[in-house]
Amino acid sequence: MGKVYGLGIIGTGVIFDSHANGLEPLKSRVRLIAAADLDPKRLKRASDRYFVPHTYTDHRALLGRDDIDIVTIATPPSTHEVLVLEALQAGKYVICEKPLAHTLESADRIIAEMANYPGKVAVGFQQRFMPSVQKAVWLRDHGFLGDWQYGLFRRLSHFSGSSASGTGWWGKWDVSGGGVVMTQFIHELDLMIHLFGPVVEVMAMADTLHQDIESEDTFGATIRFANGAIATCCSTINAPSSLVMYEAVGAQASVHMPTWGLRCADGHRLREMNAALADAFPESGTPKASSGAVGRFKAKVLWKLQGAGAAKKVMRKAVGLVGIRPAPPEPSNHTRFFQAILDAIDSGEPLPVSPQSARPAMELCTAIYASALSGQPVLFPLDSSNACYKGVTTDGYRQRHSYAGQSNLV
Ligand SMILES: NC(=O)c1ccc[n+]([C@@H]2O[C@H](COP(=O)([O-])OP(=O)(O)OC[C@H]3O[C@@H](n4cnc5c(N)ncnc54)[C@H](O)[C@@H]3O)[C@@H](O)[C@H]2O)c1
Repeated sequence: MGKVYGLGIIGTGVIFDSHANGLEPLKSRVRLIAAADLDPKRLKRASDRYFVPHTYTDHRALLGRDDIDIVTIATPPSTHEVLVLEALQAGKYVICEKPLAHTLESADRIIAEMANYPGKVAVGFQQRFMPSVQKAVWLRDHGFLGDWQYGLFRRLSHFSGSSASGTGWWGKWDVSGGGVVMTQFIHELDLMIHLFGPVVEVMAMADTLHQDIESEDTFGATIRFANGAIATCCSTINAPSSLVMYEAVGAQASVHMPTWGLRCADGHRLREMNAALADAFPESGTPKASSGAVGRFKAKVLWKLQGAGAAKKVMRKAVGLVGIRPAPPEPSNHTRFFQAILDAIDSGEPLPVSPQSARPAMELCTAIYASALSGQPVLFPLDSSNACYKGVTTDGYRQRHSYAGQSNLV
C-alpha cells in the first residue's frame, strides 16, 4: 500500500464541499486533516460537517504542519498568488482553485516563481477530467475526428452574482478579476484550448445587463484558433434555468459534451469509432445482471434507494435476492482531478494542469475583456503591453465601447 497523503484546505466557503466530497472516495490515499479560514463560523461548519480534525483561523498554522503534504487554495482569486507562494515555500504540493489569479499579470508572477518549484502546482480545471472531454481528446489524438472546423460552447446559468460567493467577491474587478467570463466560463475557455489548441484572435462583446455587480453578467465571443478552426461561445448568469452545451466539430466527426454524443455521416466509420472507444474506455463496475437499459435503470434505482435511511436494510436484502449489484455512483470531476494529482505524486511526475497550462485560459479571458472594452478584435499572444494585462478597473469598464449606445451601465 502506498503513502496516505495529508491534505489541508485554505478557504471553507462555497467550493469547500466539492473538495471535501471529492476527496471522500479517495480516503485510502489522502486524508483531509486540516482547514483554515479567516471566518471561524465557516470553519466550524466545515469541520462539523466533514469531521476535519484541525482548524485554524491563520493559514500559516496549517502550512506549518509536517503531516500535510498537499494544500488546496480555495479562497477568492486575488489571494491566490500570495497563498500559493507561501504553500510552496512551506514545501507543499498545491492545488489552486481557478482562476489561477485575478489578473494575467498576477498569473505570470506565479508562473515565474514556479521555476523554483517545478511540477508542484495543479490548477482547478477539473472539467478536463470529465469522461466526455477525455473521450473527445482521445478521438482527436487517434485521428478519428479530422481537422477541427468549428466549436460552439454555451453555458446559461441562473443565479445572483452578488450572492454567488460566500464572501461577496463575485463580479468585483479587483478581487475576482471579472464576472461570468473570468469566474464561470473560464472552465469552458480552458476546455476549448484543451481541445482546439492555441488561439490567434478573438472578437467579443460583454455587458452588465441585469445583475447588481461591477463586472459583466453576459458575454459572447468569436475565437479563431491557430489551426484555422473557429469557435463561438457565450454565457450569461441571467437565464431562467441552467444549460451547458459544448460541440466540437471536426471534418470527419463531431463530439458533443458534457452529455456524450458522437456524430459521423459515415455509419460504418461511426461504428468503428464507437468500438475503438469501448476498448479504450471500458466501463468499470458495470453490474453483470444489469446489462441492457432496463437492468441499468433498475441498478440505478436500487443504488439510490439503498442510501434512503430506513429502507436501507430492506433494500440491501432485496438487492441480494434479485441478484443485482447496484452500480456505484460516478466519481465527481473533482474526484477524477484529485486522483490524477495523487497518481502524479505517487509516480514522481509533475502535477497535471500546471499553471503554465492554465495560463492560455487566463490570456483568453483577458483578450475577451480587451476586445469587449475596445470594440476591436484582439490578436495573440498577449503580453504586458495589453491594456487589460493588469486587470480591468471599474472606471475602465464604465468607459467601455458601447454597442449602438445601448450599454446598460450599472
Ligand atoms: N472549480 C470550480 O468549479 C469552482 C467553483 C466555485 C468556486 N471556485 C473557486 O474557488 C475559490 C473560492 O470560491 P468560493 O466560492 O468558495 O468563495 P467563498 O467566498 O465562498 O469562500 C472563500 C473563503 O475563503 C476565506 N478566505 C479568504 N482569504 C483567506 C485567507 N487569507 N486565509 C484563509 N481563508 C481565507 C473566506 O473567509 C471564505 O470563507 C475561487 O477561486 C473560485 O473561483 C471554483
